[in-house]
Amino acid sequence: MENMIKSILVGVAIVFSLQANAQLKNEHTEGWLANATSTINQQLIKASQTYLPGQNPRSVTCGTVRLANYKDWTTGFFPGTLWYGYELTGNKALAADAKRFTLGLDSMRYITDTHDLGFMIYCSYGNAYRITKDKSYLPVLSDGIKNLAARFNPKIGVIRSWDFGEWKYPVIIDNMMNLEYLFWGSSEFDKSAYAQIGTTHALTTMKNHFRPDFSSYHVVDYDPSTGKVFRKATHQGLTDSSAWSRGQAWGLYGYAMCYENTKDLRFLTQAEHIAKFLMNHPKTPADKIPVWDYDVHNALQADERAPRDASAAAVIACGLLKLSTKVKNGQQYFKYAEDILKSLSSDKYLAKPGENNYFILKHSVGAFLYNSEIDTPLDYADYYYLEALNQYKKLKKT
Ligand code: GLY
Repeated sequence: MENMIKSILVGVAIVFSLQANAQLKNEHTEGWLANATSTINQQLIKASQTYLPGQNPRSVTCGTVRLANYKDWTTGFFPGTLWYGYELTGNKALAADAKRFTLGLDSMRYITDTHDLGFMIYCSYGNAYRITKDKSYLPVLSDGIKNLAARFNPKIGVIRSWDFGEWKYPVIIDNMMNLEYLFWGSSEFDKSAYAQIGTTHALTTMKNHFRPDFSSYHVVDYDPSTGKVFRKATHQGLTDSSAWSRGQAWGLYGYAMCYENTKDLRFLTQAEHIAKFLMNHPKTPADKIPVWDYDVHNALQADERAPRDASAAAVIACGLLKLSTKVKNGQQYFKYAEDILKSLSSDKYLAKPGENNYFILKHSVGAFLYNSEIDTPLDYADYYYLEALNQYKKLKKT
């Protein structure tokens, strides 16, 4: 009898100690998130007081902040980050700032010469409307989506990305990100044509942008007179045949998002193939934050000289979190995304409050071979980091 009581007591003690350990682990897990959230809140408050609507902080070069006006492809990210910051922290002051910085971009509705309207308008006005349901945001969203859809050429089956340069009809992998605006607008404005354009663009891109290992070309240039592929090349990567890190990230997010919106299994399969390429890449550093191009010669685990791209990592985390809820073995994607978010939330990448010109993350790369925005904070790194953190928090709760 005495022995039995002893065994029960030992058993109870073990259960309590396991529970305590689990709680400690939980607290530890939440520790990095709480620290990141507090930093984000402080940085965004300061940034909103420092910068002016219509002149949004984009990056930092040699200590000088580069500002983005309403025509800049990145201009929607700062207001979008404020909206995500409000969701993450619950700080109502950030929602008020988000509104001011969103409205400062009203003139985007007249832009017709770029595919970036999804990044620009959907990340700012789209989030504003999603969060507030305030219909006064709709006219800009309605004008912008018309301008985006007008860039679709049915003969080629894709939206034209750029109007500049020597290209005939350039389409870049980044363009996958603009499709979310079309899928959303299709039901909001009751226009099935928008979703059809999105699906067709994604299918054409799937056919022409990808290599057998599911890495992607940055630019595919089409011949508008025949609709055929004219040339496959790069603009921001190391070489035409290299795997530019952010491009791979755009592709992953793009196809996971297309599956989310269409339930077309071809998109899910494509996203899983891209995820496999990224997650198993031998040059991925131990902290899972990639170098700016996977084919940079010194992009090796031990070599700290090659500039990392935190923006690519943040976009990959978003894409993997999306995937994690859509497949049976989703835990592997969740875990990888969590590892990325923990790395980005470490001292190496996360700014200290008051530093980094009030950007949140350090160490991203814009366009290395143009000597532009190398090892700098970037507004889109911050935006997708916050999107991923919000998503991570939601998934943790369920
Ligand atoms: N969309 C341009 C870039 O990712 O740098």
